[in-house]
Amino acid sequence: MSPYAHITGWGMAVPERVMTNDDIAKMVDTSDEWIQSMTGIRERRIANDEQTTASLAADAARKALNVANLKPADLDLIIVSTSSPEHTFPSTASLVQDRLGAYKAGAFDLLAACTGFIYGVKLATDSIRADAIKNALVIGAETLSRLVNWNDRNTCILFGDGAGAFVLQAAEDTGGVLSSVLRSDGSGAELLSLPGGGSRYPTSPDTLKNGMHYIQMNGREVFRFATRVMAQATEEAVEKANITMDDIHLVIPHQANKRIIEAAARGMNIPIERCYMNLDRYGNTSTASIPIATCEAIQQGRIHPGDKIVFVGFGAGLTWGAAVALWSGPLTTRRIIYPARYRFYARLRSILLRWLRRIDAIIWGRYHNSG
Ligand code: COA
Repeated sequence: MSPYAHITGWGMAVPERVMTNDDIAKMVDTSDEWIQSMTGIRERRIANDEQTTASLAADAARKALNVANLKPADLDLIIVSTSSPEHTFPSTASLVQDRLGAYKAGAFDLLAACTGFIYGVKLATDSIRADAIKNALVIGAETLSRLVNWNDRNTCILFGDGAGAFVLQAAEDTGGVLSSVLRSDGSGAELLSLPGGGSRYPTSPDTLKNGMHYIQMNGREVFRFATRVMAQATEEAVEKANITMDDIHLVIPHQANKRIIEAAARGMNIPIERCYMNLDRYGNTSTASIPIATCEAIQQGRIHPGDKIVFVGFGAGLTWGAAVALWSGPLTTRRIIYPARYRFYARLRSILLRWLRRIDAIIWGRYHNSG
């Protein structure tokens, strides 16, 4: 029998710096009242100069590994979902793999915007269900504050920085991720985009002058699209799991806008109390929002082993998707792990590998020059 993919660890990391709506009102023509009434957002977190997408991702990942009682070396796969990678390449996932010291893991980035975390969970689940891997780490991480035009009141009020992570592990018991639905409609690509800096519009004085290195959005159209697809994807995923909405204990939606979530709850025919929300404190952290919300829902006692949970999101692409999970928590096999030690070893290992590579290059150069 193929193993199930259980969610056995979770962790989140958000910057300490808080930016309130009043702070934003000092930069653009807006107000706390307008932002709260139109979005539900009160404040968001903004990365400091030392914090990056990889550093936030690694912090969230370490916490998730602790919860799962897992060593970094136990990981087979690391997926980092992000729209604000550190570079075009190398992948942020490889940087995270190095920071963790997960030397037996493959690592890659995934770009499906705010839906990316659900895509990542689906890929990790399928790899586990196919018995190809045992332990996966899926991270959603963003520093969108660096891609936002702080003079554009249409977008700068919405986004925040942060990271969240899940550990998924193979186990024989029925549970974990039961079903998922992934969708895309690229005909809506221009509704939410960051057009500059890629191969289509490489960075140039013109792209900079036209602000193409900033997030561009048609808010109204994105709003309409979101309210349409959230309920639809949830219903499909629930049906695929052979259960009904009555069996669902909690829906964890992408935290973009309170009004979108309220509309989605109406579409799903469930009371709003069954949809978890924390966007008032973090804004839209894009692909990080679902795992961050999950961590806080657990902290607040809103999720227990045996509960059935829906994760549902939407975003640029356009993309959308949903997943249903039977919550299990850490596997019962409690092991002794040494998180502080792993952090030290990972750093040491990274430095040694860099030195070895240099020495190897010198020896290789001598050998070839002498030949
Ligand atoms: N502060 C104050 N007023 C603002 C404003 C702001 N930050 N942004 C727009 N306005 C004004 C507009 O100028 C306009 O004024 P007017 O009627 O005098 O012309 C009015 O508010 C309505 O503007 P509009 O852009 O049509 O607002 P909206 O009702 O679409 O709401 C959003 C704007 C961004 C809140 C809303 O479209 C939204 O949340 N969309 C979804 C975005 C999203 O979730 N993106 C991420 C997806 S992953």
